[in-house]
Amino acid sequence: MLTACTPNRKETRSCFDTDVEIVFFDRKMEKNFLIYGANGYTGELITRFAVERGMKPILAGRNKAAIEELAEKHGLEHRVFSLDDTPKLDAALQEVEMVLHCAGPFSLTSKPMVEACLRNKKHYTDITGEISVFEACAAKDKKAQDAGIMIMPGVGFDVVPSDCLAKHLKDRLPTATHLSLAFYGMGRISHGTQATMTMNVGRGGAIRKDGKITPVPSAWKTREIDFGEVTKTGVTIPWGDVSTAFYSTGIPNIEVFTVAPKNALKAMKMSRYLGWLFATGPFQKYLQGKIPPGGPSDGERAKGKTLLWGKATDAEGNSVESRLTTPEGYTITAIAALNIAQKILDGNFTQGYQTPAKAYGADLVLEIEGVQRTDV
Ligand SMILES: NC(=O)c1ccc[n+]([C@@H]2O[C@H](COP(=O)([O-])OP(=O)(O)OC[C@H]3O[C@@H](n4cnc5c(N)ncnc54)[C@H](OP(=O)(O)O)[C@@H]3O)[C@@H](O)[C@H]2O)c1
Repeated sequence: MLTACTPNRKETRSCFDTDVEIVFFDRKMEKNFLIYGANGYTGELITRFAVERGMKPILAGRNKAAIEELAEKHGLEHRVFSLDDTPKLDAALQEVEMVLHCAGPFSLTSKPMVEACLRNKKHYTDITGEISVFEACAAKDKKAQDAGIMIMPGVGFDVVPSDCLAKHLKDRLPTATHLSLAFYGMGRISHGTQATMTMNVGRGGAIRKDGKITPVPSAWKTREIDFGEVTKTGVTIPWGDVSTAFYSTGIPNIEVFTVAPKNALKAMKMSRYLGWLFATGPFQKYLQGKIPPGGPSDGERAKGKTLLWGKATDAEGNSVESRLTTPEGYTITAIAALNIAQKILDGNFTQGYQTPAKAYGADLVLEIEGVQRTDV
Protein backbone atom coordinates (compact mmCIF):
# COMPACT_ATOMS: atom_id res chain seq x y z
CA MET A 1 0.00 0.00 0.00
CA LEU A 2 1.10 3.50 -0.63
CA THR A 3 0.96 5.46 2.60
CA ALA A 4 0.20 9.11 2.96
CA CYS A 5 0.51 11.16 6.12
CA THR A 6 -2.04 13.81 6.97
CA PRO A 7 -1.42 16.33 9.77
CA ASN A 8 -3.83 15.59 12.59
CA ARG A 9 -3.10 17.85 15.59
CA LYS A 10 -0.36 20.14 16.86
CA GLU A 11 0.90 20.49 20.44
CA THR A 12 3.42 22.84 21.93
CA ARG A 13 5.71 21.27 24.53
CA SER A 14 8.55 22.64 26.50
CA CYS A 15 11.94 21.10 25.86
CA PHE A 16 15.11 22.41 27.57
CA ASP A 17 13.34 25.72 28.29
CA THR A 18 12.33 26.09 24.64
CA ASP A 19 8.81 25.75 23.29
CA VAL A 20 8.73 23.09 20.57
CA GLU A 21 5.76 22.58 18.28
CA ILE A 22 5.03 18.90 17.71
CA VAL A 23 2.88 17.93 14.73
CA PHE A 24 1.07 14.58 14.97
CA PHE A 25 0.21 12.70 11.78
CA ASP A 26 -2.41 10.08 11.06
CA ARG A 27 -0.79 7.31 9.07
CA LYS A 28 -3.63 6.91 6.63
CA MET A 29 -3.48 3.90 4.32
CA GLU A 30 -4.45 5.04 0.85
CA LYS A 31 -5.68 2.39 -1.52
CA ASN A 32 -3.65 2.22 -4.66
CA PHE A 33 -3.45 0.28 -7.93
CA LEU A 34 -0.91 -1.26 -10.26
CA ILE A 35 -0.74 -0.53 -13.98
CA TYR A 36 0.97 -3.47 -15.65
CA GLY A 37 2.24 -2.86 -19.20
CA ALA A 38 2.45 0.84 -18.33
CA ASN A 39 5.05 1.51 -21.02
CA GLY A 40 2.76 0.42 -23.88
CA TYR A 41 0.87 3.06 -25.88
CA THR A 42 -2.37 2.72 -23.90
CA GLY A 43 -0.61 2.07 -20.58
CA GLU A 44 1.30 5.33 -20.98
CA LEU A 45 -1.84 7.26 -21.86
CA ILE A 46 -3.65 5.85 -18.83
CA THR A 47 -0.64 6.68 -16.63
CA ARG A 48 -0.65 10.26 -17.89
CA PHE A 49 -4.40 10.68 -17.30
CA ALA A 50 -4.10 9.06 -13.85
CA VAL A 51 -1.41 11.54 -12.79
CA GLU A 52 -3.52 14.44 -14.10
CA ARG A 53 -6.29 13.22 -11.76
CA GLY A 54 -3.93 13.12 -8.80
CA MET A 55 -3.80 9.32 -8.72
CA LYS A 56 -0.44 7.72 -7.98
CA PRO A 57 -0.47 4.21 -9.46
CA ILE A 58 2.52 1.93 -9.18
CA LEU A 59 3.84 1.32 -12.69
CA ALA A 60 4.94 -2.14 -13.76
CA GLY A 61 6.06 -4.08 -16.78
CA ARG A 62 8.86 -6.28 -18.02
CA ASN A 63 10.88 -3.61 -19.84
CA LYS A 64 13.16 -2.18 -17.13
CA ALA A 65 14.47 0.84 -19.02
CA ALA A 66 11.05 1.92 -20.31
CA ILE A 67 9.28 1.45 -16.97
CA GLU A 68 12.03 3.28 -15.03
CA GLU A 69 11.95 6.19 -17.46
CA LEU A 70 8.16 6.50 -17.33
CA ALA A 71 8.07 6.26 -13.53
CA GLU A 72 10.75 8.92 -13.21
CA LYS A 73 8.95 11.23 -15.64
CA HIS A 74 5.76 11.10 -13.56
CA GLY A 75 7.35 10.75 -10.10
CA LEU A 76 5.73 7.35 -9.52
CA GLU A 77 6.89 4.13 -7.91
CA HIS A 78 7.65 1.24 -10.23
CA ARG A 79 8.25 -2.52 -10.23
CA VAL A 80 9.90 -4.52 -13.00
CA PHE A 81 9.00 -8.17 -13.53
CA SER A 82 7.74 -10.51 -16.21
CA LEU A 83 4.44 -12.30 -15.78
CA ASP A 84 6.12 -15.66 -15.17
CA ASP A 85 8.06 -14.25 -12.20
CA THR A 86 5.43 -15.32 -9.67
CA PRO A 87 7.20 -14.12 -6.47
CA LYS A 88 7.65 -10.59 -7.87
CA LEU A 89 4.13 -10.54 -9.32
CA ASP A 90 2.67 -11.57 -5.94
CA ALA A 91 4.82 -9.05 -4.08
CA ALA A 92 3.67 -6.23 -6.38
CA LEU A 93 0.01 -7.17 -5.96
CA GLN A 94 0.38 -7.28 -2.18
CA GLU A 95 1.13 -3.55 -2.27
CA VAL A 96 -2.10 -2.59 -4.02
CA GLU A 97 -5.86 -3.03 -4.04
CA MET A 98 -6.29 -3.81 -7.75
CA VAL A 99 -4.51 -4.16 -11.07
CA LEU A 100 -5.26 -2.39 -14.33
CA HIS A 101 -3.67 -4.78 -16.79
CA CYS A 102 -2.62 -3.03 -20.03
CA ALA A 103 -0.22 -5.60 -21.51
CA GLY A 104 -1.81 -7.27 -24.52
CA PRO A 105 -2.62 -9.35 -26.53
CA PHE A 106 -4.45 -10.50 -23.41
CA SER A 107 -4.94 -14.04 -24.65
CA LEU A 108 -1.16 -14.26 -23.99
CA THR A 109 -0.99 -12.24 -20.76
CA SER A 110 -4.28 -12.34 -18.86
CA LYS A 111 -4.13 -15.81 -17.28
CA PRO A 112 -1.09 -15.33 -15.01
CA MET A 113 -2.43 -11.95 -13.84
CA VAL A 114 -5.93 -13.28 -13.10
CA GLU A 115 -4.42 -16.23 -11.20
CA ALA A 116 -2.21 -13.86 -9.22
CA CYS A 117 -5.21 -11.65 -8.38
CA LEU A 118 -7.15 -14.68 -7.11
CA ARG A 119 -4.13 -15.83 -5.04
CA ASN A 120 -3.56 -12.40 -3.54
CA LYS A 121 -7.24 -11.41 -3.28
CA LYS A 122 -6.87 -8.27 -5.39
CA HIS A 123 -9.31 -6.94 -7.98
CA TYR A 124 -8.54 -7.54 -11.67
CA THR A 125 -9.34 -5.15 -14.53
CA ASP A 126 -7.94 -5.06 -18.05
CA ILE A 127 -8.51 -3.42 -21.43
CA THR A 128 -9.02 -6.56 -23.47
CA GLY A 129 -11.52 -6.94 -26.30
CA GLU A 130 -10.82 -10.64 -26.90
CA ILE A 131 -13.78 -13.01 -26.57
CA SER A 132 -11.61 -15.87 -25.31
CA VAL A 133 -10.29 -13.69 -22.47
CA PHE A 134 -13.79 -12.57 -21.41
CA GLU A 135 -14.96 -16.17 -21.39
CA ALA A 136 -11.90 -17.37 -19.42
CA CYS A 137 -12.57 -14.62 -16.85
CA ALA A 138 -16.28 -15.48 -16.68
CA ALA A 139 -15.30 -19.06 -15.88
CA LYS A 140 -13.49 -17.74 -12.77
CA ASP A 141 -16.68 -16.18 -11.37
CA LYS A 142 -17.02 -18.57 -8.41
CA LYS A 143 -13.31 -18.35 -7.57
CA ALA A 144 -13.50 -14.56 -7.65
CA GLN A 145 -16.52 -14.59 -5.34
CA ASP A 146 -14.73 -16.92 -2.93
CA ALA A 147 -11.70 -14.60 -2.96
CA GLY A 148 -13.95 -11.56 -2.42
CA ILE A 149 -12.63 -9.83 -5.54
CA MET A 150 -14.10 -8.44 -8.73
CA ILE A 151 -12.78 -9.62 -12.10
CA MET A 152 -13.75 -7.10 -14.77
CA PRO A 153 -11.98 -7.39 -18.12
CA GLY A 154 -12.81 -4.90 -20.89
CA VAL A 155 -12.79 -1.58 -19.04
CA GLY A 156 -11.71 0.32 -22.19
CA PHE A 157 -13.47 1.31 -25.39
CA ASP A 158 -14.14 -2.35 -25.80
CA VAL A 159 -16.50 -2.85 -23.99
CA VAL A 160 -17.60 0.07 -21.78
CA PRO A 161 -19.67 2.14 -24.28
CA SER A 162 -21.14 -0.81 -26.20
CA ASP A 163 -21.87 -2.71 -22.98
CA CYS A 164 -23.69 0.31 -21.57
CA LEU A 165 -25.60 0.67 -24.85
CA ALA A 166 -26.58 -3.02 -24.72
CA LYS A 167 -27.81 -2.65 -21.13
CA HIS A 168 -29.70 0.53 -22.01
CA LEU A 169 -31.49 -1.25 -24.89
CA LYS A 170 -32.35 -4.17 -22.63
CA ASP A 171 -33.69 -1.74 -19.99
CA ARG A 172 -35.87 -0.17 -22.73
CA LEU A 173 -37.07 -3.54 -24.06
CA PRO A 174 -36.90 -6.13 -21.25
CA THR A 175 -38.36 -8.84 -23.55
CA ALA A 176 -35.49 -8.49 -26.08
CA THR A 177 -34.25 -11.70 -27.66
CA HIS A 178 -31.90 -10.27 -30.35
CA LEU A 179 -29.26 -7.56 -30.07
CA SER A 180 -27.23 -5.89 -32.82
CA LEU A 181 -24.44 -3.47 -31.91
CA ALA A 182 -22.19 -1.46 -34.20
CA PHE A 183 -19.39 1.04 -33.88
CA TYR A 184 -17.63 3.35 -36.27
CA GLY A 185 -14.28 4.46 -34.91
CA MET A 186 -12.88 7.51 -36.57
CA GLY A 187 -9.21 7.45 -35.80
CA ARG A 188 -5.91 5.59 -36.03
CA ILE A 189 -5.32 2.38 -34.07
CA SER A 190 -2.34 1.59 -31.84
CA HIS A 191 0.46 -0.95 -32.14
CA GLY A 192 -1.09 -3.30 -29.60
CA THR A 193 -4.54 -3.17 -31.19
CA GLN A 194 -3.05 -4.02 -34.59
CA ALA A 195 -0.91 -6.76 -33.05
CA THR A 196 -3.96 -8.30 -31.38
CA MET A 197 -6.06 -8.06 -34.55
CA THR A 198 -3.24 -9.56 -36.63
CA MET A 199 -2.84 -12.42 -34.17
CA ASN A 200 -6.53 -13.26 -34.54
CA VAL A 201 -6.73 -12.88 -38.31
CA GLY A 202 -7.76 -16.14 -39.92
CA ARG A 203 -9.62 -17.32 -36.82
CA GLY A 204 -12.97 -16.41 -38.40
CA GLY A 205 -15.90 -14.53 -36.90
CA ALA A 206 -18.23 -15.17 -33.98
CA ILE A 207 -21.78 -14.31 -32.97
CA ARG A 208 -23.92 -15.41 -30.05
CA LYS A 209 -26.78 -17.68 -31.07
CA ASP A 210 -29.31 -19.11 -28.61
CA GLY A 211 -26.96 -18.17 -25.78
CA LYS A 212 -23.90 -19.90 -27.26
CA ILE A 213 -20.87 -18.26 -28.84
CA THR A 214 -21.01 -19.60 -32.38
CA PRO A 215 -18.27 -19.44 -35.03
CA VAL A 216 -19.21 -17.83 -38.36
CA PRO A 217 -17.04 -17.02 -41.38
CA SER A 218 -15.02 -13.83 -41.32
CA ALA A 219 -17.11 -10.83 -42.52
CA TRP A 220 -20.17 -13.10 -42.30
CA LYS A 221 -22.85 -10.43 -42.69
CA THR A 222 -23.00 -6.83 -43.87
CA ARG A 223 -25.77 -4.29 -43.34
CA GLU A 224 -26.41 -0.57 -43.64
CA ILE A 225 -26.20 1.19 -40.31
CA ASP A 226 -27.62 4.62 -39.60
CA PHE A 227 -25.26 6.13 -37.03
CA GLY A 228 -27.22 9.38 -37.03
CA GLU A 229 -24.74 11.71 -38.64
CA VAL A 230 -23.68 9.13 -41.26
CA THR A 231 -24.95 5.87 -42.71
CA LYS A 232 -22.24 3.26 -43.28
CA THR A 233 -21.95 -0.37 -44.29
CA GLY A 234 -21.22 -2.47 -41.21
CA VAL A 235 -19.62 -5.90 -41.22
CA THR A 236 -19.78 -8.52 -38.45
CA ILE A 237 -16.66 -8.93 -36.31
CA PRO A 238 -15.90 -11.16 -33.32
CA TRP A 239 -15.95 -8.19 -30.88
CA GLY A 240 -15.93 -8.53 -27.09
CA ASP A 241 -19.66 -7.83 -26.71
CA VAL A 242 -20.48 -11.19 -28.32
CA SER A 243 -19.32 -12.48 -24.95
CA THR A 244 -20.04 -9.65 -22.50
CA ALA A 245 -23.45 -8.35 -23.63
CA PHE A 246 -24.90 -11.75 -22.76
CA TYR A 247 -23.74 -11.41 -19.13
CA SER A 248 -24.95 -7.79 -18.98
CA THR A 249 -28.37 -8.32 -20.57
CA GLY A 250 -29.15 -12.04 -20.82
CA ILE A 251 -30.08 -11.46 -24.50
CA PRO A 252 -29.24 -14.80 -26.19
CA ASN A 253 -28.64 -13.62 -29.80
CA ILE A 254 -25.92 -11.03 -30.35
CA GLU A 255 -24.12 -9.68 -33.42
CA VAL A 256 -21.54 -6.91 -33.49
CA PHE A 257 -20.71 -4.85 -36.60
CA THR A 258 -17.99 -2.37 -37.42
CA VAL A 259 -17.30 -0.17 -40.42
CA ALA A 260 -14.37 -1.44 -42.45
CA PRO A 261 -12.81 0.32 -45.45
CA LYS A 262 -13.41 -1.53 -48.74
CA ASN A 263 -9.86 -2.98 -48.81
CA ALA A 264 -10.14 -4.28 -45.25
CA LEU A 265 -13.50 -5.85 -46.07
CA LYS A 266 -11.93 -7.64 -49.05
CA ALA A 267 -9.05 -8.86 -46.87
CA MET A 268 -11.50 -10.10 -44.22
CA LYS A 269 -13.38 -12.09 -46.84
CA MET A 270 -10.13 -13.41 -48.30
CA SER A 271 -9.06 -14.59 -44.85
CA ARG A 272 -11.89 -17.15 -45.01
CA TYR A 273 -9.76 -19.04 -47.53
CA LEU A 274 -6.24 -17.93 -46.60
CA GLY A 275 -6.74 -17.70 -42.84
CA TRP A 276 -4.70 -20.84 -42.22
CA LEU A 277 -1.79 -19.17 -44.01
CA PHE A 278 -2.09 -15.88 -42.09
CA ALA A 279 -2.09 -17.84 -38.83
CA THR A 280 1.18 -19.68 -39.51
CA GLY A 281 4.27 -18.72 -37.49
CA PRO A 282 6.41 -17.24 -40.30
CA PHE A 283 3.51 -15.24 -41.75
CA GLN A 284 2.54 -13.93 -38.30
CA LYS A 285 6.16 -12.95 -37.63
CA TYR A 286 6.26 -11.07 -40.92
CA LEU A 287 2.92 -9.29 -40.34
CA GLN A 288 3.70 -8.44 -36.69
CA GLY A 289 7.07 -7.03 -37.72
CA LYS A 290 5.36 -4.61 -40.11
CA ILE A 291 3.23 -2.95 -37.39
CA PRO A 292 4.49 0.54 -36.49
CA PRO A 293 4.94 1.35 -32.77
CA GLY A 294 2.79 3.85 -30.85
CA GLY A 295 -0.69 5.06 -31.68
CA PRO A 296 -2.63 8.24 -32.37
CA SER A 297 -1.02 11.50 -31.28
CA ASP A 298 -2.74 13.80 -28.79
CA GLY A 299 -3.89 15.94 -31.72
CA GLU A 300 -5.31 12.95 -33.58
CA ARG A 301 -7.10 11.74 -30.45
CA ALA A 302 -8.58 15.17 -29.88
CA LYS A 303 -9.99 15.22 -33.41
CA GLY A 304 -11.27 11.63 -33.38
CA LYS A 305 -14.59 10.33 -32.15
CA THR A 306 -16.63 7.16 -32.18
CA LEU A 307 -20.22 6.53 -33.13
CA LEU A 308 -22.15 3.56 -31.76
CA TRP A 309 -25.55 2.18 -32.66
CA GLY A 310 -27.59 -0.62 -31.18
CA LYS A 311 -30.93 -2.29 -31.77
CA ALA A 312 -32.81 -4.80 -29.65
CA THR A 313 -35.82 -6.76 -30.88
CA ASP A 314 -38.14 -9.27 -29.28
CA ALA A 315 -40.17 -12.26 -30.46
CA GLU A 316 -43.26 -10.08 -30.96
CA GLY A 317 -41.43 -7.85 -33.42
CA ASN A 318 -41.04 -4.93 -30.99
CA SER A 319 -37.76 -3.08 -31.31
CA VAL A 320 -35.78 -0.22 -29.79
CA GLU A 321 -32.76 1.60 -31.21
CA SER A 322 -30.26 3.90 -29.51
CA ARG A 323 -27.04 5.66 -30.43
CA LEU A 324 -23.98 6.92 -28.62
CA THR A 325 -21.37 9.47 -29.58
CA THR A 326 -18.16 9.21 -27.60
CA PRO A 327 -14.65 10.67 -27.56
CA GLU A 328 -11.96 8.90 -29.61
CA GLY A 329 -11.33 5.23 -28.74
CA TYR A 330 -8.04 5.51 -26.77
CA THR A 331 -9.22 8.61 -24.94
CA ILE A 332 -12.38 6.90 -23.78
CA THR A 333 -10.37 3.77 -22.92
CA ALA A 334 -8.14 5.73 -20.54
CA ILE A 335 -11.02 7.67 -18.96
CA ALA A 336 -13.34 4.67 -18.58
CA ALA A 337 -10.58 2.48 -17.13
CA LEU A 338 -9.65 5.13 -14.56
CA ASN A 339 -13.29 5.86 -13.65
CA ILE A 340 -13.73 2.17 -12.88
CA ALA A 341 -10.41 2.01 -11.01
CA GLN A 342 -11.54 4.92 -8.83
CA LYS A 343 -14.84 3.20 -8.05
CA ILE A 344 -13.05 0.02 -7.01
CA LEU A 345 -10.59 1.95 -4.84
CA ASP A 346 -13.59 3.67 -3.22
CA GLY A 347 -15.00 0.24 -2.35
CA ASN A 348 -17.67 0.34 -5.07
CA PHE A 349 -17.37 -3.13 -6.63
CA THR A 350 -19.31 -6.37 -6.91
CA GLN A 351 -17.58 -9.63 -6.17
CA GLY A 352 -17.20 -12.21 -8.93
CA TYR A 353 -16.92 -11.86 -12.70
CA GLN A 354 -18.54 -8.61 -13.81
CA THR A 355 -19.08 -6.63 -16.97
CA PRO A 356 -18.95 -2.83 -16.74
CA ALA A 357 -22.69 -2.27 -17.28
CA LYS A 358 -23.71 -5.21 -15.09
CA ALA A 359 -21.78 -3.81 -12.14
CA TYR A 360 -22.31 -0.09 -12.70
CA GLY A 361 -25.40 0.22 -14.92
CA ALA A 362 -26.15 1.56 -18.40
CA ASP A 363 -25.38 5.16 -17.39
CA LEU A 364 -21.75 4.42 -16.49
CA VAL A 365 -20.65 5.69 -19.90
CA LEU A 366 -22.55 8.96 -19.42
CA GLU A 367 -20.11 9.83 -16.59
CA ILE A 368 -17.55 10.48 -19.35
CA GLU A 369 -17.44 14.03 -20.66
CA GLY A 370 -18.41 14.26 -24.33
CA VAL A 371 -20.61 11.13 -24.37
CA GLN A 372 -24.13 11.60 -25.73
CA ARG A 373 -26.88 9.01 -25.89
CA THR A 374 -29.93 9.29 -28.15
CA ASP A 375 -32.96 7.03 -28.32
CA VAL A 376 -34.17 6.70 -31.89
N1 LIG B 1 -10.40 -2.64 -25.19
C1 LIG B 1 -9.97 -1.57 -25.81
O1 LIG B 1 -10.75 -0.75 -26.20
C2 LIG B 1 -8.51 -1.38 -25.98
C3 LIG B 1 -7.99 -0.10 -26.11
C4 LIG B 1 -6.60 0.04 -26.23
C5 LIG B 1 -5.79 -1.08 -26.26
N2 LIG B 1 -6.37 -2.32 -26.16
C6 LIG B 1 -5.55 -3.53 -26.13
O2 LIG B 1 -4.53 -3.33 -25.17
C7 LIG B 1 -3.35 -4.00 -25.57
C8 LIG B 1 -2.21 -3.02 -25.55
O3 LIG B 1 -2.35 -2.10 -26.62
P1 LIG B 1 -1.23 -0.98 -26.86
O4 LIG B 1 -1.48 -0.38 -28.14
O5 LIG B 1 -1.11 -0.17 -25.63
O6 LIG B 1 0.04 -1.94 -27.03
P2 LIG B 1 1.59 -1.65 -27.16
O7 LIG B 1 1.88 -0.22 -27.33
O8 LIG B 1 2.09 -2.62 -28.16
O9 LIG B 1 2.10 -2.08 -25.69
C9 LIG B 1 1.95 -3.38 -25.26
C10 LIG B 1 2.38 -3.47 -23.81
O10 LIG B 1 2.16 -4.81 -23.36
C11 LIG B 1 3.39 -5.36 -22.91
N3 LIG B 1 3.41 -6.77 -23.21
C12 LIG B 1 3.06 -7.39 -24.37
N4 LIG B 1 3.21 -8.71 -24.24
C13 LIG B 1 3.64 -8.93 -22.98
C14 LIG B 1 3.98 -10.11 -22.25
N5 LIG B 1 3.90 -11.33 -22.79
N6 LIG B 1 4.38 -9.98 -20.97
C15 LIG B 1 4.47 -8.76 -20.39
N7 LIG B 1 4.20 -7.62 -21.04
C16 LIG B 1 3.78 -7.71 -22.31
C17 LIG B 1 4.46 -4.59 -23.68
O11 LIG B 1 5.67 -4.69 -22.98
P3 LIG B 1 7.11 -4.60 -23.74
O12 LIG B 1 7.32 -3.15 -24.00
O13 LIG B 1 8.03 -5.16 -22.76
O14 LIG B 1 6.96 -5.41 -25.00
C18 LIG B 1 3.86 -3.18 -23.61
O15 LIG B 1 4.04 -2.62 -22.34
C19 LIG B 1 -3.66 -4.62 -26.93
O16 LIG B 1 -4.04 -5.96 -26.74
C20 LIG B 1 -4.84 -3.82 -27.44
O17 LIG B 1 -5.66 -4.54 -28.32
C21 LIG B 1 -7.69 -2.48 -26.03
